[in-house]
Amino acid sequence: MSLIETARAVRENAYAPYSKFKVGAAVQAASGTVYVGCNVENVAYPEGTCAEAGAIAAMIAGGDTQIAAVAVIADSPQPVSPCGGCRQKIAEFADGEVVVTLATTDGTVLKTTVGKLLPGGFDADYMSRV
Ligand code: THU
Repeated sequence: MSLIETARAVRENAYAPYSKFKVGAAVQAASGTVYVGCNVENVAYPEGTCAEAGAIAAMIAGGDTQIAAVAVIADSPQPVSPCGGCRQKIAEFADGEVVVTLATTDGTVLKTTVGKLLPGGFDADYMSRV
């Protein structure tokens, strides 16, 4: 199954009763293992988590730390756009050249990269002030 089809399948499990906007994400680690996540909303709105965050949490829990590819899918008019926080979360574990496939459920696909999604992201270099 392609990464986007894997994301499409996990999207079915999304819990999005407030926004009604279900999102599925799949992350392939450098090891080859694929991890999935879906958005999980909460009645206290800020406590919800994005699909990408779920997939990355599963990856870290699974013992992988390097992202090789990302796919995200939603029932949106344009390929779904990851939020700023998720762009930073992806960038923590992926090189700028890593391909991010963004899709709509009706088949529109946009391929971009981590670097294009987060130019000038907050970098680990900023933290080396000892
Ligand atoms: N959402 C994601 O899970 N990933 C994205 O890339 C865009 C937005 C979720 C967050 C919230 O549950 C719902 O979609 C509406 O913003």
